[in-house]
Amino acid sequence: MSDYYWDNKIDYLRRTRPLHHNDDYFEFLVEKVWRITEPVRLVDFGCGYGYLGLKLLPLLPEGSTYTGIDEGMELLAHASSLFSELPYETNFIAGDVTHLVCEPQYDIAISHAFLMHMQDPQATLQIMIDSVIDGGKVICIESNWVACMAGYYVDGVDQSKIVDVGLLQKLFERDTKRVGKDGNIGSKLPVYMSKLGLTQIESRVSDKVLFLNPNGDADVHAEMLASMRTDGGFGASPGDTEPFIKGLMSRGCTIEEANRQYENELRLSQLIDSNSFVTHAPGMRFTFGTVQRSKI
Ligand SMILES: C[S@@+](CC[C@H](N)C(=O)[O-])C[C@H]1O[C@@H](n2cnc3c(N)ncnc32)[C@H](O)[C@@H]1O
Repeated sequence: MSDYYWDNKIDYLRRTRPLHHNDDYFEFLVEKVWRITEPVRLVDFGCGYGYLGLKLLPLLPEGSTYTGIDEGMELLAHASSLFSELPYETNFIAGDVTHLVCEPQYDIAISHAFLMHMQDPQATLQIMIDSVIDGGKVICIESNWVACMAGYYVDGVDQSKIVDVGLLQKLFERDTKRVGKDGNIGSKLPVYMSKLGLTQIESRVSDKVLFLNPNGDADVHAEMLASMRTDGGFGASPGDTEPFIKGLMSRGCTIEEANRQYENELRLSQLIDSNSFVTHAPGMRFTFGTVQRSKI
């Protein structure tokens, strides 16, 4: 078994990706927004098990290729085995993206939930840009975690009792100042792309809204709830008090803030069940721009 963190999160990744996007939204972007009509060479930074390749290759013109780069050897082995059953040209590169020296050789560089984990996301964005030919695109699909958490509604519960948006704002801001990682990077990427010289920058929001409906199909409700709760997610038990409180305090929370957060999460985990109505807009941002090295 690998000791690399993400190699042990394959189940989490596979269960939670469908919560973020509607398949027809990818179709809409490829056809109406990005207008991809010729085969493209796509490179996916922090590709995991190849989620974006699995979503995009069936929509891209025949002859398009997919290269996935990731540090997780088990993730890449999983991706290779998934794609071995499919009729696409793929290539997987194992390694730390932050040490890559890229020549422009791809038409599109893309990322999903990747830059948010980087300690210097602008430097990594530059590496993505360097990998793309003149006139190509960089597309980053990244979270705005505070908006995501504010996007929950649980019927019959005051949102302020389960999601303390103010505390989460402070927590994420402090994390970014402390270690550079930015869970809200989705909202900042248009600015970073502009500062790094990309042109024709646009940003959109995934149109997925989850609805857990106890009056609907019980299996669908159970699957959605289990996926939301996966790996300490929304509605999951916060676990033992002490490590939870210590963890938050090491991220700069006061003991009062940490206790309040614990109580919020505990309350939610006890409230939410197969009879709960829940709506949620995860609100992933799609930000994209064009590489323009040659001056007109
Ligand atoms: C949240 S996961 C997202 C995976 C995939 N993009 C998806 O959405 O399913 C973050 C991914 O980034 C990869 N990663 C993190 N830091 C990396 C680095 N420095 N170099 C290469 N991959 C990295 C992890 O191995 C993991 O697969």
